[in-house]
Amino acid sequence: MTAPERWDAARVRQLFRDTLPGRNLVVVSNREPYQHVWGDSEVRVDRPAGGLTAALDPVLQGIGGTWVAWGSGDADRAVSANGIVWVPPENPGYRLKRVWLSPREVRGYYEGYSNRVLWPLCHLLIERVDLSEAWWKHYAQVNRRFAVETAGVARPGDVVWVHDYQLALVPLFLRSRCPQVLICSFWHIPWPPHAAFRFCPQASQIIKGLLGCDLIGFQTPEYAVSFLECVEKELGDACQVSYDGGGPDPDSGWAAGQVRWQHGTVAVGAFPISIDYDAFAAMALSRDALAAARRILRRLGLAAGAAGVRLRKGNTLQPLALGIAVDRLDYTKGILERLAALDRFFSDNPHYREKVAVVQVVAPSRTGIPDYRRLRQQVSSMMDELNQRHRTEIWQPVYSIDHKLGPVTLAGLYRLADFAIVSSVYDGMNLVAKEFVAARSDGDGVLLLSKTAGAAAELEQAIPINPLDPAGFAAAIRTALEMPAEERRRRMAALRAYVSEHNIYHWVASFLRALGSLPAASSLPVASSPAGADVTQPAVPRPVRHTRAGVNR
Ligand code: F6P
Repeated sequence: MTAPERWDAARVRQLFRDTLPGRNLVVVSNREPYQHVWGDSEVRVDRPAGGLTAALDPVLQGIGGTWVAWGSGDADRAVSANGIVWVPPENPGYRLKRVWLSPREVRGYYEGYSNRVLWPLCHLLIERVDLSEAWWKHYAQVNRRFAVETAGVARPGDVVWVHDYQLALVPLFLRSRCPQVLICSFWHIPWPPHAAFRFCPQASQIIKGLLGCDLIGFQTPEYAVSFLECVEKELGDACQVSYDGGGPDPDSGWAAGQVRWQHGTVAVGAFPISIDYDAFAAMALSRDALAAARRILRRLGLAAGAAGVRLRKGNTLQPLALGIAVDRLDYTKGILERLAALDRFFSDNPHYREKVAVVQVVAPSRTGIPDYRRLRQQVSSMMDELNQRHRTEIWQPVYSIDHKLGPVTLAGLYRLADFAIVSSVYDGMNLVAKEFVAARSDGDGVLLLSKTAGAAAELEQAIPINPLDPAGFAAAIRTALEMPAEERRRRMAALRAYVSEHNIYHWVASFLRALGSLPAASSLPVASSPAGADVTQPAVPRPVRHTRAGVNR
């Protein structure tokens, strides 16, 4: 039997043309893939932290189309009067249409309803849900704005793919404006059981918003089924829910079921998101990646050479088993829980002092929200305590990097590490786990992975951890350190084979196939007229330098 052909950008582009001929792709998300920000005197381009944009950017580069997103960079307005820019800047492949939000809207829609109501609710952190303010009206208003902006760039017959919890109402608003487009949504974070979801005062509006879609995708079958249960419980007899989607299908995801609702039938399925495996693996193999990672480790006081990471002790260098953890600074990522487990580990296993250390990279996130600011302080003081308790003259348990690192440096760090820890308390997927696997072309390295991260449903060869159980978590760290090389390699080989096949292109292919198989995909007419004039890419993209004084070409 021959191995299945792997998905790549070219095959996905062809699949899009074959399955959805004549249609354009319009992606809609809150976060933009490229942000223009002011440096000292010039504009630079930044790539925000977060799995959504990292995963979707290669897809858009492969297929082409338009990405509609909040223009959140402080120089975004300076670089384009109409809010449209071609990206990636160095090799333009698709256009980014920015939506402008006022500071008040950002507070109400983004920091408020999205991240202080829906985010904690979907991550089952009910006690953090804050219903004290009237954020809903900003959420609805901004969702309407996104729908209007999207309607401005989508032609009849186009595929509009809306992403994540910030934009749950866009599908419904868009359907009423553009009944002739195919609308789908992908929910990147967990979908909670109804026992939690019912705390949302706008539960039925959120569901009705999403039911504006033809297809809704979730990260795991569990979340997809939870969604169907919530639809049934919230909408009752007003809709018909069926759970006979057909289950797993190697080509088109995991079909959970359907909802019959006002405009027709909405298909619901699970499509676990992934990474651009080949690109990440190649990056990890590059000299730049190793050099960047070594530089960072040196700055932390650790030596990293051909023989691995070393700790300097007088004139000698002794081996150090290195752990790596990479997170947005978010309470769902289990950073405090990881520090508690490390504390327990070094208390239970004092002989591992000076033998093991963890590099913890945290990218600041959502700094306008009090819970996130508090978390920053908590992480820093817990890390100080942990280091104080166990440190020696030449070593400390945790070395912290408190800013975002670029993918090249991260890839190098993954490659130099002996193990990676992903300890989310709850997580839609977690792509750090998949990046670590892709970076290990040496076939070594151990992944410790929270049972409650979506990735655990796929990455069965990882060592499972319960982030809330410090003793069990500490024991798992010891298991990782003492695992025989043969077993490490066997597990890593299986993980790599899985992620290599189930890469980001496989994800988009299965979603597009599911979409293409819907009756609406063949019945909706395709626009015969070309898209608006601004759709045309400049024949030769010109590099543009922006300064505070103006634009230099
Ligand atoms: O996957 C969840 C998510 O909220 C994405 O929608 C987002 O891009 C990422 O996490 C980072 O969060 P934020 O956009 O709020 O910085």
